[in-house]
Amino acid sequence: MDDLKFLILYGVLAGVLFASFRKAFHDHKLDQIPVVGSSGLLASYWDAFNSIRHSPDFIQCGYKLYPDRIFRVARLFQWEYVVCSPKLTRDIASAPEHIISFNEAENPYHLQVVRSTLTRNLHVCFLDVRDEIVCAFDDVLQLEGLDWKILPMLPTMMAIVAHMSNQGAVGIRNSYMTSKSRNKEYLANSVNHTIDIMRSARKISVVPPFLRPLLGPLISTQNKSNARALQFLGPLIEEGLSKERELGRDWPGKPNDLVSWVLDLAETEQRAVFPITVRIMHMNMAAIHTTSMAATYAIFDLMTRPEYLLPMREEAERVVKEKGWTKTALNNMVKIDSFLRESQRLNTNGPAGMWRKVVAKDGFRFSDGTVLPYGTFLSVARAPIRSRLRRIDANYENAATFDGFRFARERAEHSKRHMISTAVDHMPFGTGKHACPGRFFAATELKAMMAHLVINYDVKAEGVRPADKVFGALYFPDADGKVRVRKRQ
Ligand code: HEM
Repeated sequence: MDDLKFLILYGVLAGVLFASFRKAFHDHKLDQIPVVGSSGLLASYWDAFNSIRHSPDFIQCGYKLYPDRIFRVARLFQWEYVVCSPKLTRDIASAPEHIISFNEAENPYHLQVVRSTLTRNLHVCFLDVRDEIVCAFDDVLQLEGLDWKILPMLPTMMAIVAHMSNQGAVGIRNSYMTSKSRNKEYLANSVNHTIDIMRSARKISVVPPFLRPLLGPLISTQNKSNARALQFLGPLIEEGLSKERELGRDWPGKPNDLVSWVLDLAETEQRAVFPITVRIMHMNMAAIHTTSMAATYAIFDLMTRPEYLLPMREEAERVVKEKGWTKTALNNMVKIDSFLRESQRLNTNGPAGMWRKVVAKDGFRFSDGTVLPYGTFLSVARAPIRSRLRRIDANYENAATFDGFRFARERAEHSKRHMISTAVDHMPFGTGKHACPGRFFAATELKAMMAHLVINYDVKAEGVRPADKVFGALYFPDADGKVRVRKRQ
């Protein structure tokens, strides 16, 4: 057994002991909240291990039994309190940060990475995404002639999204980065960084919290990818910092790009080359991971329902002919918007989401009178939306059926259900106070990508659509899932 495996095993065993104590001495007022699975010390531990692979079953079962109540499921190091009903979800969505904290909740991936890195201002900046899409599709797909090519969709989308998010924001402004091979290296490093964080976040989530600072650096290679990124981003950041010292904060010719945005917002102690590089890499990770998963799901949906391709192609071509490739033009692509929203509605990224921690000393009182004490972890069930069971789906006709243009039809009646609008019955971007601020950026990217794809390419299924991978409370599209793509005939 190598050192790393030993340390992980040790960590898990130590965690079992640690958590057993925590569970044994947990607040007994909470015993009244129903458990899905077992509440016994060892049996609940077995459930917690089991839920790494079968979390959706626990959440679905909780929903069936307690659709209007809070229930709890065992996690490795604590109980997680799950809500289903729209009313209780609204209580969470509207609670202030000093009562229920978004930042303190333990989310295995998105929150840990995003919380200290991105700002709410980034979504308003969108630099020449269209040009980058054309270039990214050409570079990544490498299609010769008119033959079909079989492509693994998730890695392909990761490469395209990395290209779009980075090139627009970072790459083009500086001759240091415009060399094609340097750019390729930088992009490959961004994708590897994303994959590494995803993998290591999964491993770290099974290590007890008190061992994470020790084991984290052994498990993840992100120090290496950050150091590699420094070679590319360092000169850009250095330039920004020195111009600022020399000519002031709004120096003439200051680029409107990611490096500048991050420098503008960084606190004094973070205004150095390495911390800014790490920040940009974290932002990369948040944007690449989520957007490429959404794009992959949308293409899987398109390949299994080819009848949607021509109507979307017709719409995209008509709109572009009328308005050109502009952001306003995208607003008129209602079928594409609707298709992507429907794809996000049915491809939830996990059985639960909106993780929070109660941080008010007196606990948090829900509108049904349930009080969760300080330190409790809670989440909102998302997966049951896939089935007909969820009452929240009363808002959707034939909720379990993929109906790609349902929102386009509604929009003709002035509905507000656009891709970026969130609600308790539509939470791919969360809802309420912490709803994803990157969704405007992500939706623009995804719509522009889909329009480009349907106008310029044909897509076809390659085998059956693979089932999602499950890890704890997260779903991922299978990275081996393939699609046939060719230049449009
Ligand atoms: C399809 C792509 C995306 C999806 C599905 C997505 C989803 C989410 C979700 C579910 C949350 C947590 C909401 C909650 O717990 O209440 C979130 C938060 C966040 N996302 Fe995204 N996201 C996407 C793209 C992006 C992009 C491209 C960026 C940045 C450019 C971004 C930046 C953020 C930030 C900064 C937060 C934290 C918000 C806060 O602190 O209040 N996201 N996102």
